[in-house]
Amino acid sequence: RPPIDVDVSKLPPGQQITVVWHGSPVFITHRTPEALARLQQAALTARLRDPTSGTVQQPPYAANWHRSIVPAYGVVVGICTHLGCVPTYSPAPDPTTPVANWPGGYACPCHGSKFDLAGRVFIGAPAPYNLPVPPYAMPTPTTIRIG
Ligand code: FES
Repeated sequence: RPPIDVDVSKLPPGQQITVVWHGSPVFITHRTPEALARLQQAALTARLRDPTSGTVQQPPYAANWHRSIVPAYGVVVGICTHLGCVPTYSPAPDPTTPVANWPGGYACPCHGSKFDLAGRVFIGAPAPYNLPVPPYAMPTPTTIRIG
């Protein structure tokens, strides 16, 4: 099947869109500088359940702290790695969550798994590993080609 091109030039910082690729939801997030700073805080990364994305291989270009080609845009498959529900976009930090130090990102409505805006799962979640990064490229600075 051919890849799909997504134009993110109109996607404002702090917003996300969901596109469908091979029948699966893919979340594309325009991460703010503040959100990117939070992804690197040691107090947060110490709470990751799968800090090296060791369980699921991700493309080599996403083997970095932001798990993407460029830091500003996150691209992950939006299917919870526990039992397959679609997590909800919740970008703001939430001090009331039972998952300590959660910086906001994606919250699974089914059994409470919490992921950050790089799709990394937090300790205490039933989801065993991070949201996978699909194969993708960026033929222009604002075009995400999935597949
Ligand atoms: Fe997401 Fe169970 S399916 S936490």
